[in-house]
Amino acid sequence: MSDHSATRIRIDYGNTLDALDSKALDAALGRVRDAQSVLQQRSGPGSEFLGWVDLPAQARDALQPVQDTAERIRSQADVLIVIGIGGSYLGARAVIEALRPPFDSAGTQVLYAGHHIDGGYLRGLMDACADRRVALNVISKSGTTTEPALAFRVLRQWMEERYGRQEAAARIYATTDAQRGALRRVADEEGYTTFVIPDDVGGRFSVLTPVGLLPIAASGIDVAALLDGAVAMRETALLDDADRNPALRYAQLRDALYRSGKHIEVLASFHPPLTYVAEWWKQLFGESEGKDGKGIFPAAVSNTTDLHSMGQYIQDGERRLFETFLFSESVGTDIEVPSAVEDTDGLNFLAGSRFAEVNADALRGTALAHHEGGVPNATILLPGITPASIGALLYFFETAVALGGYALGVNPFDQPGVEAYKRNMFALLRKPGFEETRERLLARLSGNESISG
Ligand code: PA5
Repeated sequence: MSDHSATRIRIDYGNTLDALDSKALDAALGRVRDAQSVLQQRSGPGSEFLGWVDLPAQARDALQPVQDTAERIRSQADVLIVIGIGGSYLGARAVIEALRPPFDSAGTQVLYAGHHIDGGYLRGLMDACADRRVALNVISKSGTTTEPALAFRVLRQWMEERYGRQEAAARIYATTDAQRGALRRVADEEGYTTFVIPDDVGGRFSVLTPVGLLPIAASGIDVAALLDGAVAMRETALLDDADRNPALRYAQLRDALYRSGKHIEVLASFHPPLTYVAEWWKQLFGESEGKDGKGIFPAAVSNTTDLHSMGQYIQDGERRLFETFLFSESVGTDIEVPSAVEDTDGLNFLAGSRFAEVNADALRGTALAHHEGGVPNATILLPGITPASIGALLYFFETAVALGGYALGVNPFDQPGVEAYKRNMFALLRKPGFEETRERLLARLSGNESISG
């Protein structure tokens, strides 16, 4: 990657410094540097899930099968329905929504299923696709997750009724474990084209495996450039000089702010296409750090929209927040504010300004106001919203959360807490093997108090 400026991420953190003394900052830097050594030496908990560290270059070298399959999907389908949840869905959606022009209906459109249990949504999705050529990409590492498995059961039958079993099989793509799980068995029996999720890459770190790359490529985005961006950021994120390594600096600031009592981080983007990057970020940080009674709670807002709703709380509510703004220093398409002969709306003072300039002042004004309101804030500045910069941003966040998790003393690569709801749900749904839990839960439910009005 020769053009480093396309992937350079900057952090402006002046609005955090009066909340942190130099001793706290130094101590935090020590912890994240130690975490960096643990990561590089692969000596920490969860080190069997460090496949993501070297993934960008490896994925770039093995991209051809993904690109060939994406091309096939683009020639056979107007709509690709991606079935997956959590780490098996959010990365693809984050990148696609960031990089596909809004309202663009050219080429293959990617729609989503299996990320909740709402029958009306699924019915509506099938109805909306009734007259369009469809392909499915069902994604599940375990192959047994309830939400995508349920959606796949419905959509597979729908595809087989529409196309016949053989043609449906040529339109269904499965991304799953190399050997294990129900999805692997079905895929082998039916002869679906399959892609493998590596054993050493956890769901929330899997966006640069075929989990993310296949749907992203099918939507027409340049996945080679996305990976180039991640490769470039990998070089930067290995540096131990926090002045040249924004991932290390970000991890340091978060660690120091958390220990100073700021337990909630609000990621605030100023670009609607980045809304799902923030959703992906929430999973990455929430699942990686939130355990053992510790961790920063990751929240997200989309500005300036949410300045008119959550802005009140952020400015003036309980003071346990810090904020991370996400802003692109250049935008692809922009509009100039026109002048009006009769200045009835009083906006002629903006005539000739570009929307990007107005947005930049909205960011600056917000950062200063929230800082004055007691919310330390930093701004992550992207050079643009391009495949390369988004690839760099994904890798930047992955590295930062690994450092943050180790600095906090947790295993950033497991997620034991997500099993509890599944156990209860299975018991209530009468899944064989959960009988005892069911009895216990029913006894608890019978004691619940409720009112109606
Ligand atoms: O990060 C994770 O591990 C989770 O979000 C999983 O990706 C999610 O639960 C989906 O799991 P699976 O891919 O096994 O269906």
